[in-house]
Amino acid sequence: MEIFDRDGTALAYRELGTGPLAVFVHGFPLDSTMWLEQLELLRGVRRCVAIDLRGFGASDAVAEPVLAMEQHAEDVAALADHLGADRIDLVGLSMGGYVALAFAELFPQRLRTLALVDTRAAADSETVKAGRDMMAVRVTVQGRGQLAVEMTEALLGPAASLHVKARMRTMVEGTRVETVVAALEGMKQRPARFDVLSRLSIPVGVVVGEDDTATPVSEAEQMVDAAPDASLTIVEAAGHMTPMENPTAVADALERIWARAGHEGSVVDG
Ligand code: MLT
Repeated sequence: MEIFDRDGTALAYRELGTGPLAVFVHGFPLDSTMWLEQLELLRGVRRCVAIDLRGFGASDAVAEPVLAMEQHAEDVAALADHLGADRIDLVGLSMGGYVALAFAELFPQRLRTLALVDTRAAADSETVKAGRDMMAVRVTVQGRGQLAVEMTEALLGPAASLHVKARMRTMVEGTRVETVVAALEGMKQRPARFDVLSRLSIPVGVVVGEDDTATPVSEAEQMVDAAPDASLTIVEAAGHMTPMENPTAVADALERIWARAGHEGSVVDG
């Protein structure tokens, strides 16, 4: 792992490969190890960097009671600065997709392409917000073991291997309880970002597992409809964790998205 200092907070990232910079942002309540296969498969075409968002993985613990998507997006921009890259290919899964959409709103000119994997542009409904409040209480009272069981069952498709399930469990159990609670609050507060998508003229690729019940194909289609230059890839034999459940199909999809940026993308005015 590499570490960079972000105004006194140590943020960790793993890096593999050479070429234009691609930044990978993990989901909730996970860490950069969910991208291990993608880094290996794509190291020949990109300088692949997977961040541990603040509070997660090997990054510093934080005291903030809310981990806002915008704060994470600013950290991603700071990481790109640290690595000397003006423009990046940004890849985000689920909560990482919420961060990527916040980045697209704050720094559209810094995107070469945007890959939204098993995620949504919609805000939380009141029912989802109430569910997050209950999850925050449950994880604080019962600990991470129960959360790991719930998340592994909810997020993986029926074809997921025991090894993938084991990795999920390790990631969830390795995430600090206060990070889980602060991330739930941050996700609750995020706005819908279909308008952000509609203003992007860079290549946008939406990728979703055919068995994803957390962010189903219908939500992926809504994002494709919103963005002017968007493609949809439905990944076979995968639930919500497509990069781990069907790594080759996801790597192929990312290569196709990146290949569309033969020209330098730009932002539509207004
Ligand atoms: C994730 O995988 O990051 C979560 O399912 C996102 C969410 O809870 O909305």
